Amino acid sequence: MPSRAVGLGPARMLALMAELPTQLKNGFREGTEQTPPLPPGLRQVTVAGMGGSAIAGDLVTSLTSAETELDLQVVRSYELPRPIRAPGWLVAISYSGNTQETLHAYAEAGRRGMPRLAITSGGELGERAARDGVPILAVPSGGPPRAWVGFLLGTLLGALDAAFPRSNEARLKEAAQELSARWPELAEEGGLPARLAAAVGARLPTICAEPSLAGLARRWKTQVEENAKRGATFEILPEMFHNAVVGWDRAGVLDRSSRALLFLDWSGSLPQIRPRREYLMGLLQERKVPVVHVPLASLDHLGAILEGIAVGDLFSLALARQDGIDPMPTEAIDRMKAATGGGAPAAPSKRSRPARKRATR
Ligand code: PA5
Repeated sequence: MPSRAVGLGPARMLALMAELPTQLKNGFREGTEQTPPLPPGLRQVTVAGMGGSAIAGDLVTSLTSAETELDLQVVRSYELPRPIRAPGWLVAISYSGNTQETLHAYAEAGRRGMPRLAITSGGELGERAARDGVPILAVPSGGPPRAWVGFLLGTLLGALDAAFPRSNEARLKEAAQELSARWPELAEEGGLPARLAAAVGARLPTICAEPSLAGLARRWKTQVEENAKRGATFEILPEMFHNAVVGWDRAGVLDRSSRALLFLDWSGSLPQIRPRREYLMGLLQERKVPVVHVPLASLDHLGAILEGIAVGDLFSLALARQDGIDPMPTEAIDRMKAATGGGAPAAPSKRSRPARKRATR
């Protein structure tokens, strides 16, 4: 059972979350400076990772699929799908560097002769990459993987910067500045994330978003799970109109008191989705299902994603506070890793970096 003695956990997590804008800028620099030039015509990039490391891949996929010719996909498993092969690149992301699944996929990509990159704070992945002459994009260590989302996202964006029609440097800087300016208002007691958490209360949250924000919806879910130590799900529109709607149509008294739907509302959403979205809102209103709207104000896609990360992270922290839960430890994951072998947590030393050996692949 999660500990009720929360101590300094919420304050530590809040401080880590507040680093998001700085992490983005530092990560972007690491990615652009340490990645070899992308070969002209590179089409396939696969991100191998799990949990708090893999999420950076999902968030970046939203942007690459809308703005570049890159086919970027995230593999959360031991095995790589058969069509993934050289000259496509493999980017192994493991914050600790010790995650079984990621190490397996990294080795498999090596057997397939794929150029590889490692994004890690060290561990086994850091050692293997140094031995294999694979470029290492170094993540500072200290704190849980999910608290490094800004750095991981910035690093991956930096590594793939040349695939975008224009560099993301100025855009990222601007979005990070906007985020810093909004942070005090978001983090205050009566801020948007705290109000969202109060509206959800003890209900199971289902986060709904359209495909361009799918990675963000997943991030919200996993942050609620790991920080607040409670269940959460996510749904993607328009797919949810073709299955989940059936369950919501039958929502009864129990669902109304135990579940809530959160919609990530962004002005850049697909216009085609709107009529069906309106239809769903009408249905949920009739069934008296609690619906909570999360407005994302940024007009820019990257800006909306970053804003959504900040609001979602603070929402999960507010839920943890509400429930008297320490957001920092994830003992269930540690126990699972200890019981099944592999995946030791990252070294606790603050700001240490893995040994890096510059190389060509
Ligand atoms: O949040 C967590 O601790 C997990 O989701 C980890 O990120 C996951 O187990 C993978 O570990 P790592 O990020 O160190 O590769």
